Amino acid sequence: MAVYSLLRPLLFALDPERAHALSLQALRLMGAVPPLRALQRRLTPRVDDPVEALGLRFPNRVGLAAGYDKDARGLRGLAALGFGHVEIGTVTPRPQPGNPRPRLFRLVAERSVINRLGFPSQGAAVVAARLRRRPADVVVGVNIGKQRDTPVERAVQDYLALLEIFAPLADYLTVNVSSPNTPGLRRLETGDELGKLLAPLAKRRDELARHVPLLVKLSPDLAPEDLDAAVDAARAAGIDGIVATNTTLSRAGATSPNANETGGLSGALLTAASTAALARVAQRVADRALVVGAGGVLSSADASAKRAAGAELVQLYTGLVYRGPRLIRESALALAARTT
Ligand code: FNR
Repeated sequence: MAVYSLLRPLLFALDPERAHALSLQALRLMGAVPPLRALQRRLTPRVDDPVEALGLRFPNRVGLAAGYDKDARGLRGLAALGFGHVEIGTVTPRPQPGNPRPRLFRLVAERSVINRLGFPSQGAAVVAARLRRRPADVVVGVNIGKQRDTPVERAVQDYLALLEIFAPLADYLTVNVSSPNTPGLRRLETGDELGKLLAPLAKRRDELARHVPLLVKLSPDLAPEDLDAAVDAARAAGIDGIVATNTTLSRAGATSPNANETGGLSGALLTAASTAALARVAQRVADRALVVGAGGVLSSADASAKRAAGAELVQLYTGLVYRGPRLIRESALALAARTT
């Protein structure tokens, strides 16, 4: 919307992490004040295109990818922007600060971002308390990750603890094994490791009073055969869905000065590789699990390409930075049109 084209230069004049904090603060304020919320709903009407998946009813096919609202502070405001679902997190068991700043960089010419935040989190207890007062009109997924100082060999303990806390509060859970910014994390998505991590989680989930859908989020950097192996392991473990993809370590096509920064790259430079990985995942899954497409959605055409590649739901984050909230409605409308 026009408002964002005025706001963007102001936000881009700020350090990216300050701009992020400010936008989240604005969303919290808007979410907390009913007349402002109502105004926002009129400015960005939510596309009404209900989708049944995972035993849930998603208001439309477009969601916010994990990482923007790590601690579940902005749910009401984010719902008013028009998202059908919001994936909060990554949440870690205990509070942790993440990596030293600066740790977030814009590659403006390439409409991309590099982050090495490293899971800053207020921790499961604080986030769980917030979720007990969550709004009902938006699907809320909780993305979970291991504490930085938990050895990878003991990661399953962290995920089990997080499952226990969030199963009663989340609409679905996403097991994050694909962030490049927690040392060793991606080892969990390769070979037998993924099965060994997910099987006990799915087993514990089946014992709980509430059957919370479990998803796993994969990276776009797995070799094709490793991606197939990860999908097979996830399916064998009883996982309900796959989010494809997280950020990439590749810098192909990046020429901005910030391209040399360490971290995961998202946005337009990720689109092609991420959609290719998604297509491979969807083919392998063959309708036996939900496939969620994330990675470089900056236009409704990008969203439609994810859908054509097999995604039932689409998530975005970096597109919001470059395009503003209008991208949510544009994408949701394009995906609704495909099904009618
Ligand atoms: C992320 N992403 C992310 N993913 C995740 O599973 N847990 C997280 O904590 C984060 N944190 C995070 C922070 C920032 C600043 C960015 C830009 C991204 C990855 C995100 O959810 C998504 O998978 C990728 O960014 C690709 O989508 P976009 O951004 O290209 O639409």
